Amino acid sequence: MAVGGFAVDGGNVDGLGGRITLSVVITCFVAATCGLIFGYDIGISGGVTTMAPFLKKFFPSVLRKAAEAKTNMYCMYDSQVLTAFTSSLYIAGLASSLLASRLTAAFGRRNIMVVGGCTFLAGAAINGGAANIAMLILGRILLGLGVGFTNQATPVYLSEMAPPKWRGAFNTGFQFFIGIGVVSANCINYGTAKISWGWRLSLGLAAAPAAIMTLGALLIFDTPASLVERGRLTQAKQALLRVRGRDTNIEPELAELIRSSEIARAAKEEPFVTIFERQYRPHLVMSIAIPFFQQLTGINIIAFYAPVLFQSVGFGSDSALIAAIILGLVNLGSIVVSTSVVDRFGRRFLFIEGGVQMFLCQVAVASVLAATTGTSGTERISKGYSILVLVLMCIYAAGFGWSWGPLSWLIPSEIFPMKIRPTGQSISVAVNFAVTFVLSQTFLTMLCHFKYGAFLFYASWIALMTIFVVLFLPETKGIPLDSMNVVWERHWYWQRFVNKESY
Ligand code: BGC
Repeated sequence: MAVGGFAVDGGNVDGLGGRITLSVVITCFVAATCGLIFGYDIGISGGVTTMAPFLKKFFPSVLRKAAEAKTNMYCMYDSQVLTAFTSSLYIAGLASSLLASRLTAAFGRRNIMVVGGCTFLAGAAINGGAANIAMLILGRILLGLGVGFTNQATPVYLSEMAPPKWRGAFNTGFQFFIGIGVVSANCINYGTAKISWGWRLSLGLAAAPAAIMTLGALLIFDTPASLVERGRLTQAKQALLRVRGRDTNIEPELAELIRSSEIARAAKEEPFVTIFERQYRPHLVMSIAIPFFQQLTGINIIAFYAPVLFQSVGFGSDSALIAAIILGLVNLGSIVVSTSVVDRFGRRFLFIEGGVQMFLCQVAVASVLAATTGTSGTERISKGYSILVLVLMCIYAAGFGWSWGPLSWLIPSEIFPMKIRPTGQSISVAVNFAVTFVLSQTFLTMLCHFKYGAFLFYASWIALMTIFVVLFLPETKGIPLDSMNVVWERHWYWQRFVNKESY
């Protein structure tokens, strides 16, 4: 089947845009480092909020409560103030990710990555030097604004830059660097936990990943699609020659980009209105459902509170951090697995396999907790069972690492036509942050009240999202961005919504 100048056959693309050049690898590698700051923040917050000197300075009541609540492991750290500190970042991120849609369209993906990095840098400096709660919260708001920008711009950048045939692999780089950020933060926490002002180091060192990614972003050029969108045809052509190879015929791809950009320009609509048109219903549903479900896998509960959780289930404070590091490394390894198979086995396969794996693990964790500490939460579970919980969580983290982790950034960045791509990605990031906020705000209370049932809650959501993927997510592997309409046209349910002229 010939679509928009590309030969598309059963999900495989023939010929154009399939070549991997050194330039595209380096460019995407550098761009993917933008994931570092998001990951660093996720990894650092959980550890810092269990450091006694930090709690003593900013949240003394939490420390008192933790000492008193020793009898009930499910409720040790249940504090709204503490979770508000962690999740204030997500509210700021939500606002900036929505704003980022207009900014990336007007100024390009790359420039917004730079802005995000600088904002995050400022937040890290304020947090490292925080003298009171106000500074702490201000710092976190700046961090949030920063990740809102980078999380919106980077996945779109990667999907537009990558050769269509390998788009999945290139895009997983973003999640890979999120994972590196998480693990480095966990290691740093492990070292700083022993120092009385260690929390300052942990928070201030967020400047390091921010500096790395900002410098990196300054060195790369914007995507051909974004350059065409902004009317910079000569630069777009040069960018295409660099990433596709000087000896490649880039004219068909350039022509496709110009065609998409003309459709976008002719429409002259407000993208936040366009995206609600009936023909974009499938896209809109995915951009909301995918990040919504990603969070309901329960991953952040594990990531933010892994140290808390492990302490709660009987590990000492040192071993709790080590356990979190192990979990992070497993997650990292599994992202590499995703990179190597996502363009061969496809997105659906990974989503379904990962879903089944995560479901079984959550049910198993719930069963172990039910069998050992029951609902009272007063009985410490034995070392052996604690290790079993850790092993189960590792298998769970691996499942997430090759499915909902990377693919939740990939899908929203690849399904939209150019004119509403930044808007779609913004909605997706905003939903991600909103749901993260609600869940992190409620998890510790939920753990305290539902006990092991909290894990069954997530298991049920995982079952539901896996069924959703089976029924509604079309396979997008190998399809060029500008020809993506075919996946909806062929889909048993979504075909009734699409309009052939919309790409
Ligand atoms: C998610 C984050 C999560 C992280 C874990 C990301 O894809 O969006 O919420 O904390 O993966 O590594």
